[in-house]
Amino acid sequence: MDRTYLDSIGSAAVYLKSKGIEHPAVGLILGSGLGELADEAEDSIVIPYEDIPGFPVSTVEGHAGQLVYGTLGGKKVLAMQGRFHYYEGYSLESVTFPVRVMKALGVETLVVTNAAGGVNSTFNPGDLMIISDHINFTGVNPLMGKNESTLGPRFTDMTEAYDKEYQKLIRECAEAQGLSVKEGVYFGLSGPTYETPAEIRMIRTLGGDAVGMSTVPEVIVAKHAGLRVAGISCITNYAAGMQANLDHAEVVEVTTRVKESFKSLVKSLIEKL
Ligand code: HPA
Repeated sequence: MDRTYLDSIGSAAVYLKSKGIEHPAVGLILGSGLGELADEAEDSIVIPYEDIPGFPVSTVEGHAGQLVYGTLGGKKVLAMQGRFHYYEGYSLESVTFPVRVMKALGVETLVVTNAAGGVNSTFNPGDLMIISDHINFTGVNPLMGKNESTLGPRFTDMTEAYDKEYQKLIRECAEAQGLSVKEGVYFGLSGPTYETPAEIRMIRTLGGDAVGMSTVPEVIVAKHAGLRVAGISCITNYAAGMQANLDHAEVVEVTTRVKESFKSLVKSLIEKL
């Protein structure tokens, strides 16, 4: 991590403050198909990623992604509509840059969401899963390299990567809404291929309940920065070998189907944070 990276975090924060983004309490990363929640923020300020100095430049066609700042569940939130993935070719510094900027703006809590494949045989497409822990199987770590002590410690404690109190809050919110939620370990891979059936058997043996290609780098950096983290996966499909075949259209279709319960769960969680 070099000086330029630190400077970029500062410049992005200064720019966002100049646009009226003042001390958001909660950062929100919205996964595939789950971005709509940010549209419910009141008095919102929307900033395309491409306008923010130092922000990764989107290489994907279609919508480029944007930050949405506003009031949701009675709190000031800063939401990412669209995230950066390692498999897109971004460095992990880029993937996690928005989390650094959130921290610089004063965010204390990060809520991460994603679409994931269900590995646990009791999970079904459409289930929401409280992330209790993760396994970093990407082969890399965003904190590799010289540690910048102003950002966090050399060795980051990951014992409670996903805050226990927040897990309890999500359970309570779900119960209050009559929504049944699952709970489990998110197994993070680099992608972009879906897994082979043999890999899924390995993941199950190793203790993974859901599998996906995001979230792990952002959570590692959030913990490095001293943020408290809550995580929710939307199970969009049975993992490879547990159903005929996998395609992205199904992932999107399922997130669309469950987005109302997802949105109300996350909103009520934010209220209680
Ligand atoms: N594997 C990896 N990532 C995913 C999956 C999957 O089955 N479904 C949604 N994201």
